[in-house]
Amino acid sequence: PVNLHGRNVLTLDDFSGAEIRYLLRLAADLKTAKRAGNEVPRLARKNIALIFEKDSTRTRTGFEVAAYDQGAHVTYIGPSGSHIGHKESMKDTARVLGRIYDAIEYRGFSQHQVELLAAYAGVPVYNGLTDLDHPTQILADFMTMREFTHKHLSDMTVAFVGEGKDNVAQSLAVGAAKVGIDMRIASPRRLWPEQDFCTHVKALAERNGGRFRMDADVEACVKGADFIYTDVWLSMGEDEEAWGERIKLLTPYRVTRKLMAATGNPYTKFMHCLPAFHDTETEVGRHVASKYGIDCMEVEDAVFESEASIVFDQAENRMHTIKAILVATIGD
Ligand code: CP
Ligand code: NVA
Repeated sequence: PVNLHGRNVLTLDDFSGAEIRYLLRLAADLKTAKRAGNEVPRLARKNIALIFEKDSTRTRTGFEVAAYDQGAHVTYIGPSGSHIGHKESMKDTARVLGRIYDAIEYRGFSQHQVELLAAYAGVPVYNGLTDLDHPTQILADFMTMREFTHKHLSDMTVAFVGEGKDNVAQSLAVGAAKVGIDMRIASPRRLWPEQDFCTHVKALAERNGGRFRMDADVEACVKGADFIYTDVWLSMGEDEEAWGERIKLLTPYRVTRKLMAATGNPYTKFMHCLPAFHDTETEVGRHVASKYGIDCMEVEDAVFESEASIVFDQAENRMHTIKAILVATIGD
């Protein structure tokens, strides 16, 4: 039997396929109970700190609503207003918050920081996104994939298209390798993950009955895919100066109707962790797409808004899967 009480969620690399499937079943049960109006609160008197050194809509609200539904309280700590990240070390912050809270969520820059927090907090720590990993996202994605096909995870084919080094792409590859998915990443060579990472994921996939491959040829890569997944071309914290190069490299990797059709599978679904690229009118982001003469970034509207798009189901499932993590790790 699976028991995740007291566990950190820093990366899915620390979890077995059986543990991941356990969390997905729990999330599905919690979703059903919430809809039926008979959810049983198992987090009464728990307090959870939510640290965000970067912005968030889904992860923050997912943690807040999951906690409230289950009877817990949260404290949101943003990029300013506490000593975290400048005045006080992570090691000390961890020891302080570990005395006051039952669990801590952390969204930040390096994976090392969330590992430090976990090493010293003495309570479960959840990675709410780092430059390398986004484990709570991937659980929501797997839950959504299960809802939209009759297949087991181990029979699915998933193609991530875009920046291979992207945190969501890498995290998805690790999770896929744990549950036996046939996982491909289509990306220009310049943006492939480190060789060590690829070797590790490939070995992991093969041990668990899955597959992993990198491919610069996007059309070949998506053949037979049940899901095409993409993310923004520039992540939070990356230098806006990189736009020019990214656009040049990634324009052939846009998810278009043509690419969706290239799977040869009429049921292919489109996925995106969100937020999707949006041409803001702020100083830094002013009409980036038009400035570079293209009409869309990672995905065209006709795909994003199509029947095949399951992006808002993914977004909703962030909350249900985060709730499963909370219940499994600190629930009564
Ligand atoms: N997908 C995701 O993590 O979204 P937020 O940045 O809004 O939390
Ligand atoms: N790759 C994106 C994911 C956001 C959820 C980023 O890190 O900004």
